[in-house]
Amino acid sequence: MTPEDYERHMADVGQAQAAALLTRSLVRAASLPEGARVVVVGAGTGQMLDYLEAGLLRPFRLTFTDLNLSFLEVLRKRLSRHHLEATVIEDDLERTRLERGSDLILATLVLEHIDWRHGVKVLTGLRPLACGIVIQENPPGMASALTPGRKVPKSFAKAMEIAHPTLIPRDSLIEAMARARYPCRFAESIPVADRKRIIGMLFRQEAKASV
Ligand SMILES: C[S@@+](CC[C@H](N)C(=O)[O-])C[C@H]1O[C@@H](n2cnc3c(N)ncnc32)[C@H](O)[C@@H]1O
Repeated sequence: MTPEDYERHMADVGQAQAAALLTRSLVRAASLPEGARVVVVGAGTGQMLDYLEAGLLRPFRLTFTDLNLSFLEVLRKRLSRHHLEATVIEDDLERTRLERGSDLILATLVLEHIDWRHGVKVLTGLRPLACGIVIQENPPGMASALTPGRKVPKSFAKAMEIAHPTLIPRDSLIEAMARARYPCRFAESIPVADRKRIIGMLFRQEAKASV
């Protein structure tokens, strides 16, 4: 799918704007010190940056990843437009080459595109101090990630014929993260088009018990 079609759809349904608002809340809830390492996985084109004040992210050492090279190209230009310095890496989250031990990993609307339980293992295996995950929640009775009958840009519709993103039950995600010793410390939900909601959750690594 083209970056333009992707961005048009996400803005049309309000998910780009909601993702930005939730990112702001998650970064604030994480209370990071200046210079903290923030990694945005599956960052796509970085569309959220158009709906955020760049100053929110400027104090941090930033890394953005995705496996779609055309999205990363758009992301690089956007970062420069917003005067944000960041490392941009092509990376498959399922076989990540990222280093362990960042302060915050953000994963927005990404786990829907992979085996999410494996995604939880990868994210928690990277041992960040905190992890912000944003997921989509549908109204009861609507199972597919894309609203049936919604008109979407051409290349987006074509990609969806193959992709089939799978929604993640919020409680199952919270339980899986808690089992990996990342209990949920903060959650916020924002309504978007078609009676859906976008949910942001901050998970913080449990301190090791001292002996
Ligand atoms: C719905 S988009 C969300 C993009 C971005 N996080 C945002 O909120 O604008 C899903 C993104 O996940 C990326 N993605 C899918 N599978 C991935 C994987 N295995 N590793 C890294 N990125 C992946 C896609 O290329 C796409 O950019």
